[in-house]
Amino acid sequence: MKILAIIASPRGMQGNTGRLLEEVLSGVTAAGAETEILSLKDLKVLPCVACDLCHKTGVCKVDDDYETIKDKLLACDGFILASPNYIFSVTAQMKALFDRCNGLIHCMALEGKYAAVVETSGGGEDAEVLTYMERFVNTLGALSVGGIGSPMAGIRTFPAEEALFSRASALGKELCHCIRDKRQLPEQAAFQEGFRARMSGLVEFMQEDWEYESEFWGMKRRK
Ligand SMILES: Cc1cc2nc3c(=O)[nH]c(=O)nc-3n(C[C@H](O)[C@H](O)[C@H](O)COP(=O)(O)O)c2cc1C
Repeated sequence: MKILAIIASPRGMQGNTGRLLEEVLSGVTAAGAETEILSLKDLKVLPCVACDLCHKTGVCKVDDDYETIKDKLLACDGFILASPNYIFSVTAQMKALFDRCNGLIHCMALEGKYAAVVETSGGGEDAEVLTYMERFVNTLGALSVGGIGSPMAGIRTFPAEEALFSRASALGKELCHCIRDKRQLPEQAAFQEGFRARMSGLVEFMQEDWEYESEFWGMKRRK
């Protein structure tokens, strides 16, 4: 089982988010899965230019690392998104990646995969960033097994750290158990059903222009 972790802090794994992600990954490893970390600070992911080519061809023509990240997302069994809280949201690095995933979202291409989300902040509002990332996971077609977030207490330290780290490690294990058991998460079904109707309707409406996505949905419906 392969778990891909994408961290969007400009400090990479050396910051607070990296510290909390380490604990989630310790749970993943304890559950017997392989891990790979992609740090967006070492990769180039430019903003989406809204050329619509991904909808037409399935491939983004912006010359950077997005296609490599996309292939890794498509190949993994589960993934983890980790970002610090920057002004009540994810970092610009993570947002650029989210926007570039627009083609994957139109196809809900990560259906069948599971994800967890990780966030740290200076002083709170953790829940809204976690919820935002979980919603993004759902738009990709994947299921979110949950998230963990915390304000920092200092550099790479957190309040009530022992309990936090224990929850972080449990989240990593839960991610692997959900994948292994192909767990149903019925509370996410209504959103996904509505989103599926919306995306499949949008692609049908645009079928003459968006050849790739139109074929993708054709195959999905025949499955
Ligand atoms: C540009 C910027 C914006 C931030 N905005 C917020 C914020 O809105 N709320 C908050 O609680 N912390 C905010 N912080 C603090 C970070 O979320 C916090 O220090 C986080 O743990 C940093 O994670 P890292 O060490 O992994 O980069 C901000 C930090 C920076 C640099």
